[in-house]
Amino acid sequence: MAFKSDFMWGAASAAAQVEGAYNEDGKGLSIWDVLYDGHTRHNDSPHVACDHYHRLEEDVENMKKIGLKYYRFSVSWPRIIPNGKGSVNQKGLDFYRRLVDLLLKAGIEPMITLYHWDLPYELYKKGGWQNDESPEWFAQYVKVVVEALSDKVKYWMTINEPNCFIGISYLGATHAPFLNDKDALYPCTRNVLFAHARAVKVIRETAKTAPIVGFAPTGPIFKPENDSEEAIRIAYEKTFSNSIKGPFSTGWWIDPAVLGKNPADLEDYFGKPLFTSEELQEIQQPLDFLGFNIYIAAGHKEGNSAYETNEYIGCPRNSLNWPIDPDCMYWAIRFLNERYGLPVLITENGMCNNDFVMLDGKVHDPQRIDYIHRHLLAARKAVDEGYKLIGYIYWSIMDNYEWAEGYDPRFGLIYVDYRTQKRTLKDSAYWYKEVIASNGANL
Ligand code: NOJ
Repeated sequence: MAFKSDFMWGAASAAAQVEGAYNEDGKGLSIWDVLYDGHTRHNDSPHVACDHYHRLEEDVENMKKIGLKYYRFSVSWPRIIPNGKGSVNQKGLDFYRRLVDLLLKAGIEPMITLYHWDLPYELYKKGGWQNDESPEWFAQYVKVVVEALSDKVKYWMTINEPNCFIGISYLGATHAPFLNDKDALYPCTRNVLFAHARAVKVIRETAKTAPIVGFAPTGPIFKPENDSEEAIRIAYEKTFSNSIKGPFSTGWWIDPAVLGKNPADLEDYFGKPLFTSEELQEIQQPLDFLGFNIYIAAGHKEGNSAYETNEYIGCPRNSLNWPIDPDCMYWAIRFLNERYGLPVLITENGMCNNDFVMLDGKVHDPQRIDYIHRHLLAARKAVDEGYKLIGYIYWSIMDNYEWAEGYDPRFGLIYVDYRTQKRTLKDSAYWYKEVIASNGANL
């Protein structure tokens, strides 16, 4: 049975992971442009990435070939406001306007993420998300982008995965700014959630076309150990507890934003309340959908690793060694529906692999096809049971810069040869095209 006819089929990227041109046409530096050095696999930098900045026509043409209905991309804050606050770089805005125009011409609906981790380096020097002015800096930047693009863009996501750009960036030092500072979590959590709320307000006040607004967090989803009511209840409670996975947790970020509640257990974590009730009212801004990025299921073993799960010897894994368990898709949609009541949009789901161009000039990636297929079947199970799911956005449209892991993990539907920037549609791209064209009836 097909998905509903208005199901949103898409693919995603993020500015720092694909654009390159890191210091061209007036762009300011981001924390990743500077701080990657000494922290990434092969010391890979985002400076050139997929050179998408110079290849818009070709890249949108490829999206059209796949038949994408939606393309989720992020705007680079330092490309728009090089110092993070203050003067605006018109050439940066022109770039995104050109992208939006090309997409619309190709029949693809643009969806913008306003923050996908590339904090302006100049703001980092002022304390970044630890600075209580950061929500105001963000609101000013958002206003500039929304004023410039909202005549043509309807879909907005405020912030992508605070679980990562705070949770594993200020604790565990995995991502920029590569810190391990538990004290930073309190101001960062507050400021990021205030920034999210300010952004929602600015979008609603400024947009020229009625905006459709969401948030794009991630977080561990615990899968019940069996199908008893009791096991389901335990898995749900663990999913929304914050004491197991700390700032990587799901409820840590979504509970205040959607329910207007202090997240469970955070008082114990910080030794003081996170928000006052007035502050919570400010943070709880109405959203049209809840975006969620889902890759892996959390399991029930003890431990703090975000990726520790119900793995077993020889279980399927992607090339980052993350165990693959499509049930997490079903449980994510179900638990998020049950707790938050908002329509869910899967803003990311995907598999990295060691893809390469084969002797016949093609990229055969049957594992990725199987991965997407299984996750879509799990999504459909949730839909069949009545949970609200409005779309599926594959991560990623093309291979790209996987942050601290550099360029080795390839998540794309399109293969990128980084020596030549040649693009090759993988088998999964052709397969996904059929899925989109049949609205999932062929699954
Ligand atoms: C989450 C992030 O949003 C994205 O930037 C990253 O590349 C993918 N997941 C894969 O790790």
